[in-house]
Amino acid sequence: SGLKTGGAFTPTRDDFQRVYNDVAEILENNDYDNGSYGPVVVRLGWHASGTYDKETKTGGSNGATMRFAPESEHGANAGLKTARDLLEGIKKKHPWISYSDLWTLAAVAAIQEMGGPKIPWRPGRKDGDVSACTPDGRLPDASKDQKHLRAIFYRMGFNDQEIVALSGAHALGRCHTDRSGFDGPWTFSPTMLTNDYYKLLLEEKWAWKKWNGPKQFEDVSTKSLMMLPTDMALIKDKEFKKHVERYAKDNDLFFRDFADVFGRLLELGVPFEKEEKFIFKSTTD
Ligand code: HEM
Repeated sequence: SGLKTGGAFTPTRDDFQRVYNDVAEILENNDYDNGSYGPVVVRLGWHASGTYDKETKTGGSNGATMRFAPESEHGANAGLKTARDLLEGIKKKHPWISYSDLWTLAAVAAIQEMGGPKIPWRPGRKDGDVSACTPDGRLPDASKDQKHLRAIFYRMGFNDQEIVALSGAHALGRCHTDRSGFDGPWTFSPTMLTNDYYKLLLEEKWAWKKWNGPKQFEDVSTKSLMMLPTDMALIKDKEFKKHVERYAKDNDLFFRDFADVFGRLLELGVPFEKEEKFIFKSTTD
């Protein structure tokens, strides 16, 4: 455990690995969704980070401002209280870690524990106060098209290939009618990260779902899977589709690119003092 110098606790790599292990232990729960909090924890890390604006250098994971209204009340963040509350127990046990480091570390743990790639991670985020909350509208709106996706993700500093690589996270989890209004999972194994999202986009036939909810697509053959309008934009747009095809063919390539871009997403706007990154041991290593 880290040394206490002048009252300040200096956590070591082992201390962060202990946090990882404690997160890994609480992800599985048969009473929740498909038996795992992993997907909603990934979504928390993404929504905490995806508010970044490279022009004004505001937003991003530093600050963990989603703890406060108005950011916690933004429509895009509906349901993420589940993930924040889950991690509260970890924060109590390891009070030295900032919420902003904890949320991003937990997202890394969730990806690794759901069979995804190792995501190099480093500490250094500091929690902010309510004044650092970002305005509503910085996260993507699923009812929109490729033009919107580019506007949102270019603002964070990402390019077309990176938008497609990040979107592969929709292999995980599901939409909830009481959160976004949309309904259903994207893949048949929503607690395992694979390139199935890309394969299904290309190989299934998709049609508008006939229902009273928001406009979404369903697979014609089983009617049990879904795609959002923004997911379909990735095969409507030629530049995006090129990368969907590359990732559908090659899971290793997807894992490499996803690990790289997800790691950078979690670091947007953070003034790190140290370069060194940690690669956490997964519980299955
Ligand atoms: C879930 C939209 C990108 C990870 C969702 C949901 C929506 C959505 C509407 C359903 C929320 C609910 O009802 O619970 C979008 C849009 C994106 C996008 C429009 C633009 C490209 C991403 C990215 C990641 C991500 C970049 C991570 C790298 C997830 C995960 C879930 C999810 C893991 C499942 C959450 C759960 O099961 O509770 N997304 N998303 N999404 N999103 Fe995205």
